[in-house]
Amino acid sequence: MLGVPPLLLAAVLLGLGLLVFLLSLRRWGWGWLLVIWFEFVLQPIYNLVMGDTKEQRILRHVQQHAKRGDPQSVLDVIDTYCSQKEWAMHVGDKKGHIMDTVIQEYKPSLVLELGAYCGYSAVRMARLLQPGARLITMEINPDFAAITQQMLDFAGLQDKVTILIGPSQDLIPQLKQQHDVDTLDMVFLDHWKDRYLPDTLLLEECGLLRKGTVLLADNVIIPGSPEFLAYVRKNNSFECTHYSSYLEYTNVVDGLEKAIYKGKMQA
Ligand SMILES: C[S@@+](CC[C@H](N)C(=O)[O-])C[C@H]1O[C@@H](n2cnc3c(N)ncnc32)[C@H](O)[C@@H]1O
Repeated sequence: MLGVPPLLLAAVLLGLGLLVFLLSLRRWGWGWLLVIWFEFVLQPIYNLVMGDTKEQRILRHVQQHAKRGDPQSVLDVIDTYCSQKEWAMHVGDKKGHIMDTVIQEYKPSLVLELGAYCGYSAVRMARLLQPGARLITMEINPDFAAITQQMLDFAGLQDKVTILIGPSQDLIPQLKQQHDVDTLDMVFLDHWKDRYLPDTLLLEECGLLRKGTVLLADNVIIPGSPEFLAYVRKNNSFECTHYSSYLEYTNVVDGLEKAIYKGKMQA
């Protein structure tokens, strides 16, 4: 061991560490491992070589291949790109179809989305909103918010959607005073998973939930949001339904949880 150059030793140890890490994640399935491999190994290298980001490449691909003013063609182009070229964390087509049925059933006038990313789910929901209905989406990353704005502009949905830039925990308390919100008809939770529960509690505390508000939470299996899931399922203020599906662009099982708020219950 003493004769081995330190750099080579470090590389071997790093490789072994990565292998152990990947093997420890094996229980989630190989599809999930591939996602991690693409996201954390290949993509940074690709970004460096291309001099741009995956989100910019997705937007450019849409601008070059989708039909301007046609939201469905925007979704189709993103889905094809992300299943064939680069995986990305949009809700995707399979879970997207479930979202479509929820929007069509409840016909919300005011929807709040937590986590916009490139605007895929915003396009998906906004295209099904009734005339006069609106969507407010919150995104913490200003670069992603800018991509979302351009995606909505391209899809022709910019008048139905307001993008608020910042952390949801700061923006939610401003909704009533600064954005003319009384209560929300639907909330799509798709930001970082450890925020699902605190933001649900915050929405209730701020008086933004009413009897019948529909919470729809993505990725409750992968990566999972166990505290949120346990809370809404055991709390008689919520009526829950699970929709089993697949993690976007993979064959790994994931799901959406619908939790309908029934009003504050006495303990
Ligand atoms: C899974 S992606 C959203 C995907 C998007 N809903 C879709 O399906 O097209 C999660 C996004 O949430 C954003 N995010 C994470 N924590 C946030 C927070 N506290 N407030 C607002 N946005 C947040 C991230 O920057 C990321 O863009």
